Amino acid sequence: MTKFKRYLVTSALPYANGPIHIGHLAGVYVPADIYVRYLRLKNEDVVFICGSDEHGVPITLTARKEGLTPQNVVDRYHKIIKKSFKDFGISFDIYSRTSNKIHHETASEIFLNLYNKGEFIEKTSMQYYDEKEKQFLSDRYIIGTCPKCGYEYAYGDQCEKCGSALSPSELINPKSAISGNEPVLKETKHWYLPLDKYEKELKKWILEEHKEWKPNVYGQCKSWLDSGLIPRAVTRDLEWGVKVPLKEAEDKVLYVWFDAPIGYISATKELTPEWEKYWKDKETKMVHFIGKDNIVFHCIIFPSILKHEGSYILPENVPANEFLNLEGNKISTSRNWAVWLHEYLEEFKDKQDVLRYVLTANAPETKDNDFTWKDFQVKNNNELVAGMGNFVNRALVLTHNYFKGIVPEPGEDTPYEKEIREQIIKFKNEIEKNIENFKFREALKDAINITRLGNKYLADTEPWRIIKTDENRVKTILYYSIQICAISSKLAEPFLPFTCKKLSEMLNLNNVAWEDTEKFDLISAGHKINKAELLFERIEDDKIEQQLQKLIKSKEENESAQSFQPLKNSVSYDDFSKMDIRIATIIEAEKIPKTDKLLKLTVDTGIDKREIVSGIAKYYKPEEIIGKQICLLVNLEIRKLRGVESEGMVLMAENKDGTLIFLSPENLSDNGAKIR
Ligand code: MF3
Ligand code: ZN
Repeated sequence: MTKFKRYLVTSALPYANGPIHIGHLAGVYVPADIYVRYLRLKNEDVVFICGSDEHGVPITLTARKEGLTPQNVVDRYHKIIKKSFKDFGISFDIYSRTSNKIHHETASEIFLNLYNKGEFIEKTSMQYYDEKEKQFLSDRYIIGTCPKCGYEYAYGDQCEKCGSALSPSELINPKSAISGNEPVLKETKHWYLPLDKYEKELKKWILEEHKEWKPNVYGQCKSWLDSGLIPRAVTRDLEWGVKVPLKEAEDKVLYVWFDAPIGYISATKELTPEWEKYWKDKETKMVHFIGKDNIVFHCIIFPSILKHEGSYILPENVPANEFLNLEGNKISTSRNWAVWLHEYLEEFKDKQDVLRYVLTANAPETKDNDFTWKDFQVKNNNELVAGMGNFVNRALVLTHNYFKGIVPEPGEDTPYEKEIREQIIKFKNEIEKNIENFKFREALKDAINITRLGNKYLADTEPWRIIKTDENRVKTILYYSIQICAISSKLAEPFLPFTCKKLSEMLNLNNVAWEDTEKFDLISAGHKINKAELLFERIEDDKIEQQLQKLIKSKEENESAQSFQPLKNSVSYDDFSKMDIRIATIIEAEKIPKTDKLLKLTVDTGIDKREIVSGIAKYYKPEEIIGKQICLLVNLEIRKLRGVESEGMVLMAENKDGTLIFLSPENLSDNGAKIR
């Protein structure tokens, strides 16, 4: 790899609109953290930047829904997100936020620099406007039918069903997401980044000079570039965001995708007065870790901003992962289909590394992947407990049992020990190569192969069988086993930082650098190790069952929450008054044979007595409802149900879960009383 003087590693700023879930972790934060921990172990100069993305329409919509201010919403989630990252061991050098003053200043300044250089196109156009809410409707403020796939709830900037990027004018049947109103068109002026003008240089930069980018990233860029770029508005008619620093645009803000990536710069400024060397020196390698839905913003729009501002470097690489699913379904914050990081940390105390391991082993690096709790359990029990954990435990316990915890002097090497030395060097080289190429799954395999090799070594040489007859050989075997533990505590550290720290402490090992592992002999004979403790514990079925139950519950809640029908179209008063609804008393009730739904009721309407068939048998027993007053639609056409003529319909309320309940007057009323 070309030698760079320093590294600037960023990971996508999560929206402060909900907590972090395993999809975020697997896609962005775990790989970024592995990369950074590795660079630090190699003694590279690296800064690792992140923070909350606190602008954008979804946040204002949440605030509206919950009767809060946007600032309330972002304060709440910023705190949860920041704490969960910290407790999970994502080792940011700074976790900032885009509502900070320094960020507003930085974003305005970059906008103004571009403005003063004449980069923007100014354009007045007709845009959708909600007259009732007195607000322009951009991005997620507008919902309509997707012109590409027909999905009825596509947003003004994107269809979540088919993934197409959209603009509001393409939506069929557009509606305001705030009021449901039909929008009108109204004139407004905006500033556009002329991406069409940058197309050629972007093609050269990405398609020719960065063929090494991951195929999914390169492919997406190529398809955007091949289909032709158009100018993109970087201002919006909204209140929440970074104010556009122009007199004539005081009521407008910067588009969230203009300001958010600049958050990386503001956070670096906040971190160090030397921020410029990370952002403006060609000897810095800048790498953005992102999810696949962020590719166009980080590969096309943000680099265009940086390049045309003029003083910044561009990213060397933009590793993006595909998506992680959960138990076969797409992870969704709004549908609560997720494993939330802050909940995991509570429910699986001190098991950060188990989740880090499983998410890396299953990372959606080249295609979408699935997280299942069963697989989580199997990987923990078979690979961590029975693999790495078991080897380390055997090596340490045997050293304590046979040599009082003192690392023994090795005897002559056999070919087996020579092979171990060679293997370890191979593993180290492979781990490095794979991490540097963002192939974290592959790298993890070799990190685990180190202790797998150790397990095999012990199984093959059986020190417990020969301790009585050949103590010298056992000394060699345990000397080697302890070295393998020590090497593993370094080479696995980027992936399993908590475990490796514990392991180093057990080995009483400090100040070992990544490169030292090449020497192999990290611990000398005579060194005293500490007490052996288990690195991992088995996870039992009931723990997994609990998690599955939790998911099933959230699925059920969702299904019932979604079963409310949308509002119907309005009707005239005349139409309403055609319905004759009266209070009536149930005087007889019986089940209709051969159905489990229907009851035959005889009711007194105050005017007559009649028979009604009603589908309530699941909710009421006949004997319980005699004497009950109900509301009855008395002028519904007679209908024949199961051979019984039904002369009217009982009004019922249908709950979210589909259960029915009578609408009854609060106090005893007259039969025949009219409902209006
Ligand atoms: N908030 C965005 C998301 O979650 C990511 C923003 S990345 C940044 O998809 F670079 F713009 F900050
Ligand atoms: Zn669509």
